[in-house]
Amino acid sequence: MASEQTLVEDSLYEEKREQMMDEQPQKEKIGIIDLPGVGAATAEKLEVAGFRDIMSIAVATPAELVDASGISLPVAKKMIAAARATADMGFISGVDILQKRSKIKKLQTGCPSLDNLLGGGFETASIVECFGEFGSGKTQIGHLLAVQTQKLSDDAAVVYIDTENTFRPERIEQLAKGAGLDPEEVLSRIKVARAYNSDHQMLLVEKIDELIQGGLNVKLIVVDSLTAHFRAEFVGRGTLADRQQKLNRHMHMLMKLADLHNLCVYVTNQVMAKPDVFFGDPTQAIGGHIVAHASTFRIYLRKGKKGSRVAKLIDAPNLPDSEANFIVEEGGLRDFK
Ligand code: GTP
Ligand code: MG
Repeated sequence: MASEQTLVEDSLYEEKREQMMDEQPQKEKIGIIDLPGVGAATAEKLEVAGFRDIMSIAVATPAELVDASGISLPVAKKMIAAARATADMGFISGVDILQKRSKIKKLQTGCPSLDNLLGGGFETASIVECFGEFGSGKTQIGHLLAVQTQKLSDDAAVVYIDTENTFRPERIEQLAKGAGLDPEEVLSRIKVARAYNSDHQMLLVEKIDELIQGGLNVKLIVVDSLTAHFRAEFVGRGTLADRQQKLNRHMHMLMKLADLHNLCVYVTNQVMAKPDVFFGDPTQAIGGHIVAHASTFRIYLRKGKKGSRVAKLIDAPNLPDSEANFIVEEGGLRDFK
């Protein structure tokens, strides 16, 4: 699918960007301003839109550059061609990818069955999607991860995008105590933003890059819920294509952040009833193939016996599909026996 293709390209892009950074001392540094047709004003507009180096131009589409800076289509095409000639885009070896993967960290929830489900924890450089009905525990996991991630290092920080007004600092305090951490310190390292609509939500994600450039060591981004605004704003059949296109862009921005900064993105997603299913599970995740494909790991959460919750791994590149059974408690999640 096109989206998977682009994700592969994105990670190659980051790889190349790192290489270029390494090589820069020997080579004369070329900036966007050195490309044909780019003056100071255009360079500034491009920078504001997030195009900060040659590589970002090389992998852009002409329409994106036109949108971002108001230049004409032929100029955009020329710029991209020049950037591509400079950027030396090519293949990297499997060994390099393996080495890159060795930097991946696993964020643990402290609940063994849930961590094992994901091969030892929630991986950085990936998007983990959790979908399930109301009250299934998606938000609880988001809160717990926001606390537990801080065990990674003294400065590990969390960005929490709250679309449904369900972020509760009191809950963070409880979970921090349960994890043996200082609640106040934990709260201070979680940057929370309330998103009021899908555009706002996307804008907030764009701003995360600035937080990181400013020195914040973001290791987890929570988007809870990923799809609620999109679902509410795009109603009716005719709007589906637009919604999916926008969601696709959103997922790509998140994937880029995950990849570029080796952080974990945790997103929650609702389910809806499938009208045409007569046996088996009659629910399916919102967001369709776009969200499913862009997520590296997908967890389906449902309510189990005696107040427990069952998490099922649906889709993972290198793990078997399996289940975890746990209970939500004041101090965290506990395995359900
Ligand atoms: P929606 O956002 O409505 O789709 O649901 P969700 O999947 O995000 O559910 P959420 O994570 O909010 O789960 C809520 C459930 O977690 C509650 O029904 C409680 O069972 C449980 N829960 C929340 N806080 C506590 C707590 O402090 N102690 C205990 N024991 N359970 C809690
Ligand atoms: Mg919730």
